[in-house]
Amino acid sequence: MKISKKIAIITGASSGLGAAFAQALVEKNAFVYGLARNLEKLNALQEKLGENFIAVKMDITDQKAIADWMQKTFSENHSPDILINNAGSGYFSKIDELPLEKWHEMINTNLNGVFYLTSAVVPLMKQNLTFKHIINIGSILGKVSRSESAAYCATKYGMQGFSEALFKELRSFNIKVTCVNPGSIDTHFFAESGIESHHNMLQPKDIADLIVYLLETPDNFLIDEITLRPLNPKVSE
Ligand SMILES: NC(=O)c1ccc[n+]([C@@H]2O[C@H](COP(=O)([O-])OP(=O)(O)OC[C@H]3O[C@@H](n4cnc5c(N)ncnc54)[C@H](OP(=O)(O)O)[C@@H]3O)[C@@H](O)[C@H]2O)c1
Repeated sequence: MKISKKIAIITGASSGLGAAFAQALVEKNAFVYGLARNLEKLNALQEKLGENFIAVKMDITDQKAIADWMQKTFSENHSPDILINNAGSGYFSKIDELPLEKWHEMINTNLNGVFYLTSAVVPLMKQNLTFKHIINIGSILGKVSRSESAAYCATKYGMQGFSEALFKELRSFNIKVTCVNPGSIDTHFFAESGIESHHNMLQPKDIADLIVYLLETPDNFLIDEITLRPLNPKVSE
């Protein structure tokens, strides 16, 4: 796909990976709808990236809000070419210490929100046979498990299955589906669980470069799943 002038939706664009993806796609001259709950952060990114970035205050766990926004924003002549399901929530603790609301938050964000958006975008993508791409941000914890991560693992293993089935369902419509499974990334994702990020984790910019690569692969070439790890994940002195 040639990214220039393509229309992209990126969830979780207010920080971390999503903000890096937005920057990379705007630099390639795409129009990016960046969704997140924190409008202040989205507006700050808009100031930095310019008018090709459109800030959209959205809680992806709100199915009705997504349906309303999709309806008023897109039409047959203006429809998304790229969807990056990136917004995610992670809380890491022993299962008997996991607050109920954290279980619901992870399920609602990492699975329900992904379904709400994807199921609304796919009919628009199916309108014609030009090549489209859905990229789902899973995790290494959707492939291997780790203690004190049961709820998060449940959602990211779920994302893995969702992506694989979706790729089989949508390939004949020229819609690519890729699941990207990163190891630990240098963002604020773990802050709530008291885990500090550090520079030996994967860097958001490097993953954004990978996303651009995935999008630019030749039309009949699909990377359906990819795993990323820091080569040496320990904090260096
Ligand atoms: N960091 C890691 O080590 C790591 C490793 C593997 C995979 N991942 C995955 O990478 C993705 C991005 O995480 P990150 O590391 O960039 O973390 P981050 O900086 O905390 O970003 C998470 C993003 O998700 C958005 N978000 C959360 N709940 C939302 C909701 N209900 N509606 C809309 N947006 C919501 C947040 O925006 P608002 O708060 O403004 O809504 C924020 O922009 C997640 O799916 C995560 O599971 C992260």
